[in-house]
Amino acid sequence: MRKILVTGAAGYIGSVLVRQLLAKGYKVRGVDALFFGGESLISIYNNPNFEFIKGDLRNNLIINNSINGVTDVVHLAAIVGDPACAKQPDIATQINLETSKKLFDACNNKNEIGNFVFASTCSNYGKMEHEAYVTEESELRPVSLYSELKVEFEKYILKNEVRDSFVPTALRFATVYGLSPRMRFDLTVNEFMRDTTLNQKLEIYGEQFWRPYCHVEDLANSCVKVLEAPKDKIKQNVFNVGDTNENYQKKIIAEMIINIVPDVIVKYVHKDEDPRNYRVDFSKIKKELNFKITKTVPDGLKEIHNALLDGIISDPYSKHYKNI
Ligand SMILES: NC(=O)c1ccc[n+]([C@@H]2O[C@H](COP(=O)([O-])OP(=O)(O)OC[C@H]3O[C@@H](n4cnc5c(N)ncnc54)[C@H](O)[C@@H]3O)[C@@H](O)[C@H]2O)c1
Repeated sequence: MRKILVTGAAGYIGSVLVRQLLAKGYKVRGVDALFFGGESLISIYNNPNFEFIKGDLRNNLIINNSINGVTDVVHLAAIVGDPACAKQPDIATQINLETSKKLFDACNNKNEIGNFVFASTCSNYGKMEHEAYVTEESELRPVSLYSELKVEFEKYILKNEVRDSFVPTALRFATVYGLSPRMRFDLTVNEFMRDTTLNQKLEIYGEQFWRPYCHVEDLANSCVKVLEAPKDKIKQNVFNVGDTNENYQKKIIAEMIINIVPDVIVKYVHKDEDPRNYRVDFSKIKKELNFKITKTVPDGLKEIHNALLDGIISDPYSKHYKNI
């Protein structure tokens, strides 16, 4: 039976992915340094098919223990997002690039490991000057340390020669949203809906910029799809993950929010940061891996709105729900 290692298992995406893999009958090992706590794992902690290693992958021993006896790896652990990487550039470089390379090399040296799925990002496309949709073939123009490190590690796993039975794949995730056992409110859709639901106020900058969005359950499911795909379709290949119809400007998301909370006061402000602007084409993953999303941004907004109205999250402004 396959045993999948998920790095960053306690994280926003990892805690959803681990549950999907367990539900499909896989054995799962999670490794996480628990930078944001481990509560997201409570309900699966005693599952006989789940094993957990608490540790920091910067430690070689943790890498060795984590990959020992697994058949596949989904590598999610990282310092996540532009602000978090800008705030601690040395740690971000250590974890997102140097440690990732060490983990990758160790997996390449272990004959029993097949898939290596890497969580990259559509942020790699950076600032596009024109309105056309970018594809996997488009030029990458990272505008932050976070995406520079993602681009560099992508190159490392896609261009370097690997053993025959080792199957690395890079997934460029759209900006994620939705409910997860490890909630994040520093993501556009979640943050906008929180501020609207709790304060009836929404402050938006860069309202004209385009960005693709994808629900956390669908993003996690893309990792499962890759793990189950024929090797020749995915080996040293890269896929954008999302849906072409889910590219939105922030002002379009504001309009969706007004449909849910008509009384919200929307204020557009100017800020000279985060110039990322890109519309992404997601036809490759749909065509080649039959990947389909199950939720759209309006679904996600309603989901967050209802959870907050019901008081499911007791302190949504807590720093635990932010990556900086
Ligand atoms: N959230 C998004 O919009 C988005 C978009 C594109 C790509 N991604 C990528 O998906 C992955 C997961 O993102 P997320 O939103 O779940 O982030 P997250 O911050 O919620 O989870 C990351 C987890 O990794 C763990 N971790 C970090 N460094 C570690 C280390 N050295 N050793 C062990 N554990 C470590 C953290 O404790 C955390 O639990 C990341 O690689 C991220 O770059 C996320």
